[in-house]
Amino acid sequence: MIYVYKLFIIISKTFSNFITAIISSVIDLNKMEKKMKTFYFTGTGNSLSVAKKIGGNLCSIPQMIKNKEFFHEDDAIGIVFPCYGFDVPNIVREFLSKATLKANYFFAIMTYGNMSGAGLQNLEKLAKEKNIKFHYTNEILMIDNFLPGFDINVQLKNEQKKDIDRQLIAIVNDIKYRKVNLVKKKGIFTRMFSAIVSKMLSITGLEDKNFRVDKSCIKCGNCAKVCPRANITVETENPVYHHRCEYCMACINACHLTSIHIKGEKNAKRFRNRNITLQEIINSNNCL
Ligand SMILES: Cc1cc2nc3c(=O)[nH]c(=O)nc-3n(C[C@H](O)[C@H](O)[C@H](O)COP(=O)(O)O)c2cc1C
Ligand code: SF4
Ligand code: SF4
Repeated sequence: MIYVYKLFIIISKTFSNFITAIISSVIDLNKMEKKMKTFYFTGTGNSLSVAKKIGGNLCSIPQMIKNKEFFHEDDAIGIVFPCYGFDVPNIVREFLSKATLKANYFFAIMTYGNMSGAGLQNLEKLAKEKNIKFHYTNEILMIDNFLPGFDINVQLKNEQKKDIDRQLIAIVNDIKYRKVNLVKKKGIFTRMFSAIVSKMLSITGLEDKNFRVDKSCIKCGNCAKVCPRANITVETENPVYHHRCEYCMACINACHLTSIHIKGEKNAKRFRNRNITLQEIINSNNCL
């Protein structure tokens, strides 16, 4: 009988230790989460949806630039952004070049729609200039919002194949447990190709003269409010573009009347990540 009693004591102690360990690790993770800043830039919500899942204190890069908030210190600091022309968007470059960031753990996640090229490696280089060394980088394949290149109907039809939720769960877990791992360095040809595409895009395509507003516009002003560069004004006339465009596709996708068009668009289908509202894009990007 005494042996049964001792066995019972041992089992119940082990069980209670196990439960305590689980509870304290959950509390620790919550604490870690609170000590994390996640900077993000988004045009159509993909990157914001990823940043929201990762968690921490979400900080919009356009708002940081607008308010000149460039000094940040935390246990963990991350950057979530979309790939533009196999590269890093100018606005993210600008933020990194102006910011002083201090943390024990740095991560970067790049969302992309088709081919990521050397975007993350370029970010690593930029960060190095600011003495930032990433502990974890990853990329996540999502819907491609580049309207001159992709038909959103086709993108949405093939969305399941990208298995976005599975990619996202893995990334969220990696960051939660502070995994150390960088995306494998791309080969020389990918890096060269990325550099050429990025240069070509910066010289040619990315100009707001490619946007046109048709007669259906009711001057609601949403396109101006989602612009991270305060590049659009809407007063008595149709929206006016002021030539400091980031080419993020926020304006064209935010117009509920499809009044904005871009050269080379496949059709009138527009896109916003289904987990993100128009108001969230406005809150992130409004720089008026
Ligand atoms: C100007 C521009 C350039 C892009 N270039 C690439 C690219 O080189 N490779 C790629 O896979 N996706 C590219 N994309 C697609 C976006 O990276 C992708 O859709 C991203 O998830 C959009 O994020 P967001 O919704 O947070 O703005 C590009 C999109 C835009 C607007
Ligand atoms: S969002 Fe569309 S309707 Fe509203 S002002 Fe802009 S172009 Fe016009
Ligand atoms: S004008 Fe449109 S595409 Fe250009 S930065 Fe503003 S919202 Fe983005």
